[in-house]
Amino acid sequence: MRYLSRLFFALFAAAAIQSAIAEDVMVIRFSHVVATESPKGQAAERFAELVAQRSAGKVRVDLLPNGRMYGDNEEISALLLGSVEMLAPSLTKLKVLYAPEFEVFDLPYLFPNIEAAHRVTQGPIGKSLLAKLERQGVVGLAIWDNGFKQMSANRPLRTPADFAGLSLRIQPSRILEAQMRALGAKSRVLQFNEVYNALKNGMVDGTEGPVSNFYTQNLHTAQRYLTLSNHGYLGYAVVTNKKFWSGLTPEIRSMLEGALRDATEFANESAQRNNDAALESVRKSGLTQVVELTHAENKAWRDALSKVPHQAEGRIPKELIDGILREAGHMSTAVSQR
Ligand code: LMR
Repeated sequence: MRYLSRLFFALFAAAAIQSAIAEDVMVIRFSHVVATESPKGQAAERFAELVAQRSAGKVRVDLLPNGRMYGDNEEISALLLGSVEMLAPSLTKLKVLYAPEFEVFDLPYLFPNIEAAHRVTQGPIGKSLLAKLERQGVVGLAIWDNGFKQMSANRPLRTPADFAGLSLRIQPSRILEAQMRALGAKSRVLQFNEVYNALKNGMVDGTEGPVSNFYTQNLHTAQRYLTLSNHGYLGYAVVTNKKFWSGLTPEIRSMLEGALRDATEFANESAQRNNDAALESVRKSGLTQVVELTHAENKAWRDALSKVPHQAEGRIPKELIDGILREAGHMSTAVSQR
């Protein structure tokens, strides 16, 4: 089924390129792994619309959602090889470009609120992180929010004791591995588009992520409990191939930059609403019970996770972690006491 759907998309993309050549339209292929209805899917759609309008149809962004063409394990190679022109992987997935610093965004409770996240992602720290990708032939164009992550399983996860014996899906990240260990669970790295099946067939017991991803991947049909833990942040870097980007005419490049600025504003202003609506839909489905933590339960999570920043030592510069914590408006005791 998956093979057929990829084949269909490959044929569709080839046909689209053929017709674009015939019409003399420039095509930008933008691949991502999430659903169109998710915050990233919606921001990518907005970008495509703005490009179509502002180029009067001369430049077309072809969106390839849901990992149909390229999943987590293939998309960055596809960008480097020129099989697609744009991606928006989660920040942590960019560390494969010899940029381990991107894993810093996985630290638990890094940002007390979304404004704090924006001070980092939209400020000098975000810009300097994006600039690190350039030496690998990738241009970092923008950072988009999804939002804060929640935790799900088939049992209510209220305190760390509830994690005993569970295996939870994570993105590839030593910090996330340490996070699950600190909570008392095992972790298993899986590609995003494998999560639904892995939960259905019991390969893993639970997962973490923003509610928008939970709902649009139908995980509410596979998980009985969703804890509103807000224990971490998920954001994306919009990236392009450097050779492609520098080969554009200055006019097209500046039109794309403008469209991306506006799409970024839209992304970061609408993601929270999207997550709120997804939570409402999960509640309405009646399939997943939403668990809200008491103050004491929340504290138990924070205490258990307070040692995780130590796992980042040696791999992520201390100045970067401290700089982010300062910018975010708090110095974590765990880090500042190192
Ligand atoms: C994940 O793998 O959970 C996320 O990075 C997916 C996404 O792009 O939101």
